[in-house]
Amino acid sequence: MRRSLNRRAGLAAALVAAAAAWATALMTAQGRAVRPGDPIAGLAPADFEEFRLGLDDFLEVETAEEGLGPAFNGTSCAACHNVPAVGGVSAVAEVRAGRRLADGSFEAVAPEGESLFHLFSVPGHACQPAIPPEANVIVRRVPIPVFGAGLVEAIDDETLIALADAQGRGRDGVSGRAAIVTDRGTGARRVGRFGWKSQHATLLAFGADAYRNEMGITNDLFPTELAVGIDDARFRLCDPIPDPEDIRDPRTRRRGIDNFASFMRFLAPLERGDIDDTVRAGEAVFTATGCASCHVPTLTTGANANPRLHRQTVPLFSDLLLHDVGTGDGIRQAAAEPEEFRTPALWGLRFRRPLLHDGSAATVDDAIGRHGNEAADARARVERLAPAQREALRRFLLSL
Ligand code: HEC
Ligand code: HEC
Repeated sequence: MRRSLNRRAGLAAALVAAAAAWATALMTAQGRAVRPGDPIAGLAPADFEEFRLGLDDFLEVETAEEGLGPAFNGTSCAACHNVPAVGGVSAVAEVRAGRRLADGSFEAVAPEGESLFHLFSVPGHACQPAIPPEANVIVRRVPIPVFGAGLVEAIDDETLIALADAQGRGRDGVSGRAAIVTDRGTGARRVGRFGWKSQHATLLAFGADAYRNEMGITNDLFPTELAVGIDDARFRLCDPIPDPEDIRDPRTRRRGIDNFASFMRFLAPLERGDIDDTVRAGEAVFTATGCASCHVPTLTTGANANPRLHRQTVPLFSDLLLHDVGTGDGIRQAAAEPEEFRTPALWGLRFRRPLLHDGSAATVDDAIGRHGNEAADARARVERLAPAQREALRRFLLSL
């Protein structure tokens, strides 16, 4: 939950220098390159202040006294989101488990349809969840970076629904389904776009889910602990703090989950790497082989009260839709079937390793080689490329 005041002050002091540097940069050099971890250029002062508060909470290391646990995957958001800067990825992989039935369908082995099993628990009281023996699917998931996430959030549902319709079955074997999810914040039916399974539509909901699921900190959107297989007595020892644990800061009136959302909303996308003739040739190969039917080069945000998010071009290389490319992990989650994954955005790809939902691909060639089913034709076209074209495709991908 909230850090003690003096620890908070310590981190705040450490951040003042960085904040001052950003503020100066914003005032003096609007045109300069945005570095990884910077906010979107030209933010209004109030938005910049929200970003700064959010960064503070995104970095904050939580303890059991503050609500961490009973079980958890990490002690701060930044623990898993830090390469090449705060907001990025890490090599940490979390674990999901469940049961695949004979007909291919999914059955949860944890309460409430849950499939997440924590890596750690608070010491001393045996609160480590164990995967039950009836689970026959145990899979890994690697982090997704949050650079530019505010732009992704600002894309209208209608844009994604139209894309799904435009790519109906039969066109090159590529379909693409909008993930219709219930937003925990508002109760509205929305198009999910965050997470490997497009499980959330908003940054508030994803951050609230992460706070509870990754760190064991309950909040207004996720008010009960995910405590698989821990009996009540042990639970009270491991996590005596009343739920929800994420309460409003008396000074700012904001919750941790509000601050996470602000940080991610105003975090700038990573800039493109160098573009030369080979990279341009590689982009043409990317389009010609059919990669762009799912990894759609640009989408556009809708009308937005914030001018920095209003009708902006988002060069993300994704349709944010669910597809079956033959890598399904057997887990049903939110609106995604066991065989489906959301097309991952490819912006910032040059900073990302390992690849694919489970981190099983070390290189872009490995990742392409794993594309089947809906993406089988695209993969086959890549396999037929001349070596120079193949190299150009690789160079293009690593320029993103
Ligand atoms: C233990 C590692 C870990 C910690 C700690 C963690 N995350 Fe993540 N994060 C992940 C993983 C793994 C994924 C992909 C999960 C999935 O979709 O199955 C992810 C995905 C995300 C996404 C989706 C991005 C997108 O574009 O799809 C957001 C947003 C996010 N995390 C925010 C947070 C916030 C906020 C916190 C802190 C409250 C946090 N994460 C803590 C590992 C972590
Ligand atoms: C039918 C839609 C579709 C097509 C066509 C497609 N992809 Fe993908 N791509 C996906 C999905 C879905 C994933 C995630 C699979 C997973 O993680 O299991 C993915 C993953 C990737 C990744 C790994 C990204 C990461 O962050 O882990 C790369 C790189 C990639 N695709 C490149 C390509 C290239 C190059 C092509 C063209 C040869 C292509 N894709 C064609 C849907 C598609």
